[in-house]
Amino acid sequence: MKTMLAIVAAMLAAVSCGQKKEEPQKALVLYYSQTSNTKAVAQEIAKLTGADIEEIVPVKPYDGDFQATINRCNEDRQQGVTPEIKPIAANLDKYSTIFIGYPVWFGTYAPPVASFLDKTDLSGKKIVPFCTFGSGGLDSSIKDLAKKQPKAEILPGYGVRAARLAAVPKEVDQFLKAGGFIEGEYVKLEPFTEQHPVSEEEAAIFNTAVGDYPMIHAQAKTVASRTIPDGTEYLFTAADLPREGAPQMPPAGEMKVYVTVINGEAPVFTQVVR
Ligand SMILES: Cc1cc2nc3c(=O)[nH]c(=O)nc-3n(C[C@H](O)[C@H](O)[C@H](O)COP(=O)(O)O)c2cc1C
Repeated sequence: MKTMLAIVAAMLAAVSCGQKKEEPQKALVLYYSQTSNTKAVAQEIAKLTGADIEEIVPVKPYDGDFQATINRCNEDRQQGVTPEIKPIAANLDKYSTIFIGYPVWFGTYAPPVASFLDKTDLSGKKIVPFCTFGSGGLDSSIKDLAKKQPKAEILPGYGVRAARLAAVPKEVDQFLKAGGFIEGEYVKLEPFTEQHPVSEEEAAIFNTAVGDYPMIHAQAKTVASRTIPDGTEYLFTAADLPREGAPQMPPAGEMKVYVTVINGEAPVFTQVVR
């Protein structure tokens, strides 16, 4: 009998050992940032998730000057090259989830991130894109990311305008909870209503939201809306208008513009999708 009990005890021990709960695997936050906007989002994600964090660093840094950066990008593009980056110190094999962050440059992830994606195989990993931008580029950059890493699982991403960095702590918290990366309650937004032609009042909301942003010169056509905590979110469709005296910037077609109106505050646009 004693021997039987010893065998059963040994078997139970073996089973419970097999079921031993694994430590939750850490994620990695990997980001490039030229002027620290994306860095702020990266740090917030790392802080809330406890993930490791590392910056992608070009061997020859871009200087902070906007026009100089554009010129360098154009030269690189003509030569079909992306900037050399310093080796990534983290052992990527250790991570099944990688948050990849970047500023949007020319509608997609900035070239140092292209360099990283070109020489790294992320097959089988969960990739969570995040970005900062002047007006938009989350969707277009995610499409490019999915093309570049077809065997990675690209999860929904987070993007924020550089002008709205104050919203980052609240929005990143909700984004991480909605994605199941951290625990806690989050607000599930209702779907937008059907699109309908804009009223005068809605056109005024659109014009106020995009009014002082030089890259948008458009007329709102239709709109849908939904309730969000403390206000209303609008999804406008708008058409580019010709710019007088700027033939180098011809109308580029239709766009979607997300606008939020928090009760008592002026309308702000949160993202443009072209
Ligand atoms: C060369 C260059 C190209 C850019 N292209 C875009 C663009 O296509 N769309 C956009 O919305 N913002 C664009 N921006 C604005 C940046 O995405 C924005 O300032 C971002 O927050 C910078 O992030 P960082 O501080 O992490 O570098 C561009 C900025 C630079 C320097």
